[in-house]
Amino acid sequence: MRIRHWRRLAVEALALQAGETVIEIGCGTGLNFALLEQAVGHQGRIIGVDISEAMLERAKTRIAAAHWDNIELVCCAAGDYQFPQGVNGILAVGTLNYEPEFDRVIQEGARALAPGRRWVVLDYKKPNNWLRFLTPLFVAMGSTYGVSRALMERHAWESVQRHLRKTKMQELYGGFVYIISGEAPK
Ligand SMILES: C[S@@+](CC[C@H](N)C(=O)[O-])C[C@H]1O[C@@H](n2cnc3c(N)ncnc32)[C@H](O)[C@@H]1O
Repeated sequence: MRIRHWRRLAVEALALQAGETVIEIGCGTGLNFALLEQAVGHQGRIIGVDISEAMLERAKTRIAAAHWDNIELVCCAAGDYQFPQGVNGILAVGTLNYEPEFDRVIQEGARALAPGRRWVVLDYKKPNNWLRFLTPLFVAMGSTYGVSRALMERHAWESVQRHLRKTKMQELYGGFVYIISGEAPK
């Protein structure tokens, strides 16, 4: 899979500027932080939210090694997170399928975004083309990462389409992966 390329596409879709504030929901060990750092620079701010203390411990090690001093980590389920108001972007990579309340999370994030700013979700789904017959293979390949048929029924992209404007959806990997962006109303 071309996950590094997809991460770059997702961060580009946020259209961040230097000095801005971005939240990553489900930041894990911080694999998107270098791209987010490039986007917001030293004057910007990154807030990484994750449900797992163990993931955040690894993120802390990554942050210390890179000498980033503008990243705040919050240990919290996405469904319990209180979004600060007026943020310039929100990203979730491979996370929202795991959050049962993803629709409310996307809605609350949309309300917290500064006008015209973007929510971007990168996640997996069932393709709506003939490749869907490969779904059992995709699930088997991703099972160590928690990929499952049941979680494929969580259509987070529809929540982005419901709660944000000017949405743009890109399907990747034969339709098993998508990136969607949507803007908060101006
Ligand atoms: C597949 S990893 C992706 C990590 C990171 N976004 C990346 O691109 O490498 C999914 C992450 O979501 C976190 N996660 C799962 N359910 C969550 C929830 N309900 N709220 C917040 N984080 C959650 C996990 O702990 C894990 O770190």
